[in-house]
Amino acid sequence: MKEQVQEELQQEEKVPAPPKKENSFVAGARKLFQAGIPRKSLFTYENTPPTEEELRANILIVNHLKKYFPVESNLIGQPIRYLKAVDDVSLRIPYGKTLGIVGESGCGKTTLGRTLLGLYDKTAGEVYFDGKNVTKYRERQMNSIRKDMQVVFQDPYSSLSPRFTVGGIISEGVAVHKIVPRAEIKDYVVALMERCGLQPQYYERYPYEFSGGQRQRICIARALAVKPKFVVCDEPVSALDVSIQAQILNLLRELQKEMRLAYMFISHDLSVVQHVSDDVGVMYLGSMVECGPTERIFSNPMHPYTKSLLSAVPIPDPRSKRKRIILQGSIPSPANPPAGCRFHTRCPECMEICKTQPPVYREYEPGHACACHLYPQE
Ligand SMILES: Nc1ncnc2c1ncn2[C@@H]1O[C@H](COP(=O)(O)OP(=O)(O)O)[C@@H](O)[C@H]1O
Ligand code: SF4
Ligand SMILES: [Mg+2]
Repeated sequence: MKEQVQEELQQEEKVPAPPKKENSFVAGARKLFQAGIPRKSLFTYENTPPTEEELRANILIVNHLKKYFPVESNLIGQPIRYLKAVDDVSLRIPYGKTLGIVGESGCGKTTLGRTLLGLYDKTAGEVYFDGKNVTKYRERQMNSIRKDMQVVFQDPYSSLSPRFTVGGIISEGVAVHKIVPRAEIKDYVVALMERCGLQPQYYERYPYEFSGGQRQRICIARALAVKPKFVVCDEPVSALDVSIQAQILNLLRELQKEMRLAYMFISHDLSVVQHVSDDVGVMYLGSMVECGPTERIFSNPMHPYTKSLLSAVPIPDPRSKRKRIILQGSIPSPANPPAGCRFHTRCPECMEICKTQPPVYREYEPGHACACHLYPQE
């Protein structure tokens, strides 16, 4: 009997189990779990109301936001096909912090910003701003919080009315929202102009007299004149010369500190976003595919799309080499997005499941969320 057992044991030893092939990303996720990240901190952005603590910490909380544009209607004018410009985006922006949003052109960054500002009606989702649930706010109620949410657009040429002087442009919101008594408006605006690098004599001049960088300073002064709490900066330096970009970015950062502003900083340029953001969200075809603290996104990107974007960012040290991941194909149309994971048509890691089943967007380490089948889904 003893011999038989020994024989069986030897046989078992002789036939080792075939080694399990493990994807390197799955191995990475396993290490993350083994590193002791408590499972209960992982989070899937359910549509449950945020806690008091979350509301106190974040100026903006967004759950499952969608914005669909109708692109085809039937004979009686009912929409039958939609372009899903923003499809299921969840995010948080703490008071006084910057969330950078990156992604290729057409992925829905501007639509996300405009929907949050109430410039477009939401198709679905929940938005909490400054401690209040503003999801169902309509035009008039939005006006009550509009002062606190401002925007700086990409194109400083088209976003300033040519018919008004610089002083008139900046003063308008100050007068409407009664930021200071009427008699003090001019002094207040001139002081703000100086703070934004604009000389007082520009007060009576017109926008067409200025360069792109100066015009963007005017746009920033106009946005900040009403003492907002949150500013959407939509590609604010993309139209400017590189030498001017740094000056504008520094100005935005200084003003953020002084006024405790929260920014959503939209850009297609990952290195600009890295420079200004506390957290970074990566969008692809209307969805947020990864979001987390800037340092973690750059040192430990999880999503294959983030990795490909990062591989294109130049490294200052010529000795260090990073393998460039070149994505095949072009970005599909948001009017007809691929089934399953939207990135599967271009993903170098695509698996069978990715073609049919959308991955869950969830947290893998505190504040670092991702949507990808390479990582545990439950
Ligand atoms: N008002 C609109 N009506 C219909 N489609 C729109 C509208 N605004 C944007 N889109 C579409 O939504 C998608 C996302 O656009 P946008 O938010 O401008 O992207 P990004 O800012 O990332 O370049 C694009 O396919 C764009 O064509
Ligand atoms: S879910 Fe699949 S296709 Fe999508 S990013 Fe992850 S590996 Fe690639
Ligand atoms: Mg845009």
